[in-house]
Amino acid sequence: MRDTAEDKVVDRLRTLSDVDVVLAQNDAMAWGAWKAARDLGRRDISFIGIDGLPGPTGGIELVRQGILAATFTCSTGGKEAVDYARDILMHKEGIPKKIYLRPRKVTKELLGARVEGMPYIHEAPVARDRRIVLGFAQVGSESEWRVANTKSIKSAAEKAGIDLRFVDGKQRQENQIAAIRTFIRDKVDVIAFSPIVESGWDEVLREAKKAGIPVILSDRAVDLKDDSLWLTFMGSDFIEEGRRSARWLVEYLKTRAPVNIVEIQGTIGSAPAIDRAVGFAEVIKDYPNYHIIDSESGDFFKDRGYDVMKRILAREPRRIDAVFAHNDDMALGAIQALEEAGRRPGKDIAIISVDAAHGAFKAMTEGKLNCTVECNPLLGPQLMKAIKDYMNGKDLPIRMITAEGVFPAATARRDMAGRQY
Ligand code: AHR
Repeated sequence: MRDTAEDKVVDRLRTLSDVDVVLAQNDAMAWGAWKAARDLGRRDISFIGIDGLPGPTGGIELVRQGILAATFTCSTGGKEAVDYARDILMHKEGIPKKIYLRPRKVTKELLGARVEGMPYIHEAPVARDRRIVLGFAQVGSESEWRVANTKSIKSAAEKAGIDLRFVDGKQRQENQIAAIRTFIRDKVDVIAFSPIVESGWDEVLREAKKAGIPVILSDRAVDLKDDSLWLTFMGSDFIEEGRRSARWLVEYLKTRAPVNIVEIQGTIGSAPAIDRAVGFAEVIKDYPNYHIIDSESGDFFKDRGYDVMKRILAREPRRIDAVFAHNDDMALGAIQALEEAGRRPGKDIAIISVDAAHGAFKAMTEGKLNCTVECNPLLGPQLMKAIKDYMNGKDLPIRMITAEGVFPAATARRDMAGRQY
């Protein structure tokens, strides 16, 4: 509250002479702090708030008047709630499970740059009389998941009447970068891609921004300081998938005896490999009897999962109680290697993986895999909806998270009926 903040800051500033900046957790308190400083004759302090509401006493106006040096918008979410509610009632496809709204920095300079007063990153293009052109740079075709993802994007584009230029990156970042450059040169309307790894995208995304082409991250995130280089990210919560895998394992084994785990990671430096490892470790750290005794990357391929498991079996003298594979394909490869070594995966060794694709369900019904945690590849409808929303001038959320479940072997036969991938 503004008055409370003002009273408290007056007291503090009487004793603190070296304050340069006050960061308040909302604009009202930042304003109160500014008043306190002004009454004490302190003109040397900058004030930063949060909320960025419109209106005569809102943060945007306070920035315009120079009271606040900056504010960051915290959307009230009302408009989005009503829009999504309407889409749900109209049975539209591509509704995410959870969204994060984009906070925006508001400064005097940014306000001056825009007629309407809000600092938008990309202006939505005006209505067009031709089909939208989308350039999509895919990772490759490493897994059953990826094949389903490609199919979903292609069929959703066709259904939505969007012209799709699809490039298979064949598992190489340089191929994806080259594809994005071609899309820029060809002046497509929107670029979407699934980044094979998190880093190394700054330059090409700056080029897309300079060309005024919005970029959508599909499935995997990037690690960039400047989040104005991409419009929105849609996909799974990979950290949560790692947590779900670990929670399921702990609940399934229900033991205080030592549990030795082998982890088969996805592509090194990719968002799912990084995040699934983090989520899994976060949960098992509370169970001192659970240990990851060996971890190696199988690059999300089945045959590499097989090779990794063989190598680990050859070098690991300790008992293996569980295998956590970052995707189903690598788990299937590991199962094969374990069987060849005379082990009984799914029985003596608990096997858990991520994706919940057909192959995993088949392995569960055969008693070889114990659980698969869903990572939904059917992002096509959500992507096309986002593109159309954007083209219609809607402000997109910064992050859209897909709805997903956990599928144990016990109910696999029933659960697999009707699944699309
Ligand atoms: O980015 C999603 C991951 O990539 C899937 O879990 C994996 O199977 C894929 O190749």
